Amino acid sequence: MKTILITGGTGLVGKHLSIKLTEKGYHVTHLSRVIRKSSTFQTYYWSPEKKEIDKDAIISADYIVHLAGANIGELRWTKRRRQKIRESRINTAEMLYEKTIESLSRPQAFISASAIGYYGAITSDQIFDENDLPGNDFLGETCRLWEEVADKFALAGIRTVKIRTGIVLTKEGGALKKLVTPIRIGLGSPVGSGNQYMPWIHIDDLTDIYIKAIEDIQMTWAYNAVSPDYITNGTFTGMIAKVLKKPFWFPNLPSFVIKIIFGKMSEMLLNGSRISAAKIIKSGYKFKYPELRSALVDLLAIKNP
Ligand SMILES: NC(=O)c1ccc[n+]([C@@H]2O[C@H](COP(=O)([O-])OP(=O)(O)OC[C@H]3O[C@@H](n4cnc5c(N)ncnc54)[C@H](OP(=O)(O)O)[C@@H]3O)[C@@H](O)[C@H]2O)c1
Repeated sequence: MKTILITGGTGLVGKHLSIKLTEKGYHVTHLSRVIRKSSTFQTYYWSPEKKEIDKDAIISADYIVHLAGANIGELRWTKRRRQKIRESRINTAEMLYEKTIESLSRPQAFISASAIGYYGAITSDQIFDENDLPGNDFLGETCRLWEEVADKFALAGIRTVKIRTGIVLTKEGGALKKLVTPIRIGLGSPVGSGNQYMPWIHIDDLTDIYIKAIEDIQMTWAYNAVSPDYITNGTFTGMIAKVLKKPFWFPNLPSFVIKIIFGKMSEMLLNGSRISAAKIIKSGYKFKYPELRSALVDLLAIKNP
């Protein structure tokens, strides 16, 4: 039985991935800042702040999946928070790398989360693919530096895959819950111009892409994990309202209001381009939810769409 070590395995993506991998017969272990007695997964402790890590986590792993990182949508992006968002991804990746090299253990692959923020928060006509350069804003820089640490594993001869993830849609939380809440009470509206794209992915597709990255030895370097359905914020929010059969007539929430409420994070909410799914499709991946409507019907548990 192969062992998959997941950092951030307690998070939105990690929970789903851990369950699916276990169902497929893998032994899943977690590397976590907290040892939770209630966890059904064998958990090793690390403290990124104290630079402590249980080396047994690394030694016992056949694959490492690095998902850990301070949530980017939770708090205002103050200088301190931005530093935390960055360090919690990059320094942790560095710790994993150092411990891997030091322990002489060689996982069969290192799979790292990354994000479509890699390409920068811009609204343009361009369709970004994996060969495009990183953006020079906060998220672009963060993803670039995060991926550069992942690349060290590749240089050490370990197959490395970076999953540039779009907005993950799940039943229980994350971005979809935030989008749905005002619409459910009839107060939904597009944000800013509404013309910014919102590259998205259903959690089932994302976890299947991670599993493919583990199992498919042809997969290396970066892959965009986004559905092939290009959707703007206006269409996205309108479609939620349609699926929920809710009114949707409020005028767009002006950009300046979003800037006041969210501060620097508003960059991410007010901008967005199309991101290509061509590479992951070419690798043989077939999306379960290639279209937003079917994803929403599934996630919002609509009985008779
Ligand atoms: N969800 C999305 O829409 C989305 C989109 C693009 C990219 N991604 C990326 O995919 C990865 C997983 O996303 P997610 O939504 O599952 O994240 P999440 O729910 O916020 O969970 C991340 C996990 O990281 C650990 N963590 C939190 N703060 C940390 C810190 N300061 N230092 C070290 N570890 C910390 C926590 O695990 P412990 O408490 O067990 O340590 C937490 O459960 C993230 O790297 C994220 O950037 C997510």
